[in-house]
Amino acid sequence: MTAHNDFNGYIDTKEGWVDRRIFWDQEIYEQELKQIFAKSWQFVAHDSMLPNVNDFYTTYMGEDGVVVARQKDLSVKVFLNSCPHRGNKFCYADDGNTRSFTCNYHGWSFGIDGKLGALANEHVYDKGDIDKEKWGPRQARVDSYKGLIFATFDPEAPSLEEWLGDFRWYLDMMLDGDGSGTEFIGGGIKSYVNANWKFGVENFVGDAYHALWNHDSGLKAMNNGEGFGPAVTEGSYHASMNGHGWEFGTDGFADVIIMGRPKWTEYVQNVLKPQMKERLGELRSTIYGSLASVSLFPNCSFLPGIQTFRVWLPRGPRKLELRTWTIVNKSMPDDIKQEINIGCMQTFNPAGVLEMDDGENWEGNTSVNKGYLTRQEKLHYGCGINRQIQHEELPGTIYAGQFNDANQRQFYQRWADLMNADSWDDIPTRYTPRYSGKSTV
Ligand code: FES
Ligand SMILES: [Fe+2]
Repeated sequence: MTAHNDFNGYIDTKEGWVDRRIFWDQEIYEQELKQIFAKSWQFVAHDSMLPNVNDFYTTYMGEDGVVVARQKDLSVKVFLNSCPHRGNKFCYADDGNTRSFTCNYHGWSFGIDGKLGALANEHVYDKGDIDKEKWGPRQARVDSYKGLIFATFDPEAPSLEEWLGDFRWYLDMMLDGDGSGTEFIGGGIKSYVNANWKFGVENFVGDAYHALWNHDSGLKAMNNGEGFGPAVTEGSYHASMNGHGWEFGTDGFADVIIMGRPKWTEYVQNVLKPQMKERLGELRSTIYGSLASVSLFPNCSFLPGIQTFRVWLPRGPRKLELRTWTIVNKSMPDDIKQEINIGCMQTFNPAGVLEMDDGENWEGNTSVNKGYLTRQEKLHYGCGINRQIQHEELPGTIYAGQFNDANQRQFYQRWADLMNADSWDDIPTRYTPRYSGKSTV
């Protein structure tokens, strides 16, 4: 065990509780930057955001700014957005197309591959003062899965294939439902919430429960006075593996209906589900679009059927930057893509009916948990703690029922596993892998 805290003391998946300090404490947060964000594979961009050579997008991995850039050979590089001279960002644009980046301060420039190129007023340097090969920004490892581009700065991290593991069985519903691939449409939206990044992730990893109460009025407003109706627990599951989690039903398409766009509902029923059935089999075609939500460890989430896709970028322990997009299948007709985009904006953008409900609660959670006495009390994560089952077809650790804290418990277990680890060998796999991982494309 390491010299630092034993983070298993901050969570208990058997008793079902979490220590409140993990949501605001600066020291724990610093450890997260080191143990979670400097190690994990993180979603950085979708292929469709960088269609052309020299396209770039700037984002963050932890609190480290990075540039994601499309290369001449169409591969993607990800490197730190910090000039090795005095440290300023050399790219302040959100995105664009360029052959090089030039730092504002003294004028060092960097190629689209991140390599240090010309220096402004280079004559001030003597021969031998600088080896340009050595002084480019640090490069990340980059890989992608069916359109999603991921990066990690840890040379020892397992492959992306291993990182996603069996979760690809689920991901394919979103990324490979009809074989045409996916794209982000209509640009991205940034917003800021004074909340710990984990509240966003844990909400999407498996908190359908909050929707019954928190989103009830919003849903009624969107759906002619109809709320969620009675809970459907039969055929509903929480699946998790290595901190990734997908909660879902197998009996309908509540999430599609929530969008309030009848054309989209019809399309899912008559076109998309039959396509998925053929491509991915009956079970996954019934799962897609049910009351469902998903998070990929550590900080990426999406809603299949509502089609919002997002990352929760940490901005200190008590602030997050939320970036959201709308994801669609490339082959969908333009009018359907448009319907999805409108529905997605009405529900999940900073002014959307459902997004606002959540942000306010997470801000409360974050600030209230800091109270001197309050912080000494634990938080309850015990819903459905005895409902683990074996399922013949579903990969991962499976809990039955529509409402369960199972995926949150697994998410925090993975969090503690990484926080504690000195090396990847210390990090256990907490489910039994069985999906072959063979691509369906
Ligand atoms: S800080 Fe970038 S050129 Fe000096
Ligand atoms: Fe919500």
